[in-house]
Amino acid sequence: MPATLTHQVFPTAEDASAALATEIETLVRVRASENRPVVLGLATGSTPIRLYSELAQLHRMGLSFANVITFNLDEYLGLERSHAESYWQFMHFSLFDHLDIPPENIHIPDGTIADEDLASYCAGYEAAIREAGGIDLQVLGIGHNGHIGFNEPGSLPEVATHVTSLNEITIRDAARAFGGAEFVPTRAITMGVRTILDARRVVLMAFGTSKAQVVSEALTSEVTADLPATYLHNHQDATFYLDEEAASMLSQG
Ligand code: PGA
Repeated sequence: MPATLTHQVFPTAEDASAALATEIETLVRVRASENRPVVLGLATGSTPIRLYSELAQLHRMGLSFANVITFNLDEYLGLERSHAESYWQFMHFSLFDHLDIPPENIHIPDGTIADEDLASYCAGYEAAIREAGGIDLQVLGIGHNGHIGFNEPGSLPEVATHVTSLNEITIRDAARAFGGAEFVPTRAITMGVRTILDARRVVLMAFGTSKAQVVSEALTSEVTADLPATYLHNHQDATFYLDEEAASMLSQG
């Protein structure tokens, strides 16, 4: 049984988010003092919203994010940036509009790339991550089906940024936001499991009772493509940040 995947339980989602915000703050400050950038991998969804509020608050209190470079995990294919449900919109509304990250440092996969250009676009996304020096800290959520990014069940570990089809559960989870399952895009560009495992540190956040089952399975299961979050057992510095509800199905001790 692999043993490197750790978890920390916080009383609330706010506490977990504040802890991760403090970790990011330290990284940003240390690198700024060394005149070096920080490369963050970022996630969308309801889970990181509190983290992003904390980071915005840190900026209001004077922390500069000018030395930060970001790469988002994924984007729906077929959505313009201006679409209300695009991850471009989500990231700007919930985070980037409130920080001083130079726009050229922000990378979110482009959901409007034509099919014939997708392979080279995905290779270019990977190249940009490498050129930035690799991801220092990757923030993740977890889907009810165990996905990380849009690496759905069945995803293989050696795949880099690529185009994928969304799984039924993912479409169901997104249906409300899109006003019906029929309006949810069926494909996305996503960093691959390989891209995520290449990050120097990974923090997966999961909050609420609806995540308790998948969190418990991900932490205790052998590594399996059926539950992509289990690939994090193969990472040397991956941690789950949980609130008490998401940790409620973990056995004690
Ligand atoms: P959520 O999504 O944060 O909205 O629960 C997480 C995910 O699907 O990765």
